[in-house]
This record gives sequence, structure tokens and C-alpha cells, in this order.
Amino acid sequence: MDRIRLLHAGEQPPYELLLLADPSKTLVDAYLSSGTVLVAELGAEVVGVVVLQPSHEGMMEIMNIAVAESEQGKGVGKALLAAAIRTAREQGAKALEIGTGNSSIGQLYLYQKSGFRIVGIDLDFFTRNYEEPIVENGIACRDMLRLRMEL
Ligand code: ACO
Ligand code: ACO
Repeated sequence: MDRIRLLHAGEQPPYELLLLADPSKTLVDAYLSSGTVLVAELGAEVVGVVVLQPSHEGMMEIMNIAVAESEQGKGVGKALLAAAIRTAREQGAKALEIGTGNSSIGQLYLYQKSGFRIVGIDLDFFTRNYEEPIVENGIACRDMLRLRMEL
């Protein structure tokens, strides 16, 4: 990965990556319209993305983070998280939140190692909001774990 930058106004968002993290295009389009989008580039190719938006009580939330499969495991996700944390601080947020599925073991590892702490569970979030069942690591994804970092 060479650099992380803001998505330019009018530039096509990297849907292929965004849909890796969130299978609902409807939800993706909703937060793209109001969020800050950062992309990671390798040469001229976009290989990673993170989307933040203001949430509640002066906090911001990472709505989507994804890295191209061929570039996973090389530190791009960690660098995107660090860039998102910097951006939230610059925008004056008092805390940054992120939600992930109960089955997303690797993500829970990465987020906690980056300083996020589990603060709650939205029971049956995925059962309520997604039509197709989601299974990861042999585990049914039903509940959303909520994590937070004070800034
Ligand atoms: N299992 C175990 N550890 C993992 C995993 C995993 N699946 N993925 C990353 N890690 C660890 C790495 O070993 C590394 O640890 P280290 O610092 O001890 O070496 C650390 O996490 C950072 O790894 P990166 O290489 O920076 O992570 P990567 O670039 O692969 O990005 C990401 C992680 C974004 C989760 C990527 O795997 C991905 O795009 N997955 C598919 C989309 C997705 O699930 N996105 C998150 C959905 S939730 C949301 O968007 C709010
Ligand atoms: N990481 C990933 N997967 C694991 C791990 C691990 N650390 N440990 C077990 N698994 C998986 C196995 O791959 C297997 O999956 P599969 O069915 O898909 O192949 C499944 O879990 C069952 O594995 P077992 O071999 O039956 O588990 P094991 O005999 O190793 O017992 C236990 C697990 C009891 C957690 C053991 O590792 C242990 O004694 N750890 C130390 C004590 C401990 O932490 N106990 C729990 C504390 S909380 C409490 O006591 C309430």
C-alpha cells in the first residue's frame, strides 16, 4: 500500500470492496451519502476503504472497512483504522465506534488490538436487517458487537 487519501468529489466509490464488509447495497449507499470516505491505494489501484459518519452524542462511527482479498494480511486494515481514528479526532469527535458480527473473529482481534473495547451487543441486528443468512468461521452471524474508543 502506498498512500491513504480522501475519495475525490464525484469519484466512483469502490463498491466491490464496500460489499465485502457489508452485503447490503442499500445500507452502503445510505452511509456513503453522508460519510467521509478514505481509500488506500497501491499504485493507481484502490485496495482498501474506510467510511466514517457522525453517529450520536458527538461520536463518530466506522460504517465500513474493507481490504481487497489479495492485499489482506499486509497491514492495510490496521493503517486504515489508524487513519479513521486520526480523521475522527480532527473532526472533533469525542469517541469512535465500530460494530461487527458475533462471528467476525479476525475483525474482533484487529479492533481490540487497535484500542477498541466492547461496550454492548445489539441482539439479532443481522437477523433483522439482512435477508440472507450470514455464516463466518462456521458461526451464524446474528448479533452485532458494539466497540468504542474514547478519543
Ligand atoms: N483472523 C485473525 N487475525 C486477523 C484477521 C483474521 N481474519 N484479519 C486480520 N487479522 C490480524 C492480523 O494478523 C494483524 O495482526 P498483527 O498486527 O498481530 O499482525 C491485524 O489483524 C491487522 O491485520 P491487517 O493486515 O491490517 O488487516 P487487513 O488488511 O487484512 O484488513 C479487514 C482487515 C479489513 C477486516 C479485511 O480482512 C477485510 O477486508 N475483510 C473483509 C471485509 C470485512 O469483514 N470488513 C469488516 C466488516 S465490519 C465493518 O465494516 C464495520
Ligand atoms: N482458537 C480457535 N479455535 C479453537 C481454539 C482456539 N484457541 N480452541 C478450540 N478451538 C476450536 C477447535 O478447532 C474445534 O473446532 P472444530 O470443531 O471446528 O474443529 C473446537 O473449538 C473444539 O475444540 P476442542 O479440541 O474440543 O477444544 P479443547 O479440547 O482444546 O478445549 C478449552 C477447549 C477447554 C477452551 C481448552 O483450550 C482449555 O482448557 N483452555 C484453557 C482453559 C480455558 O481457557 N478455559 C475456558 C475459560 S472460561 C470458563 O471456564 C467458563
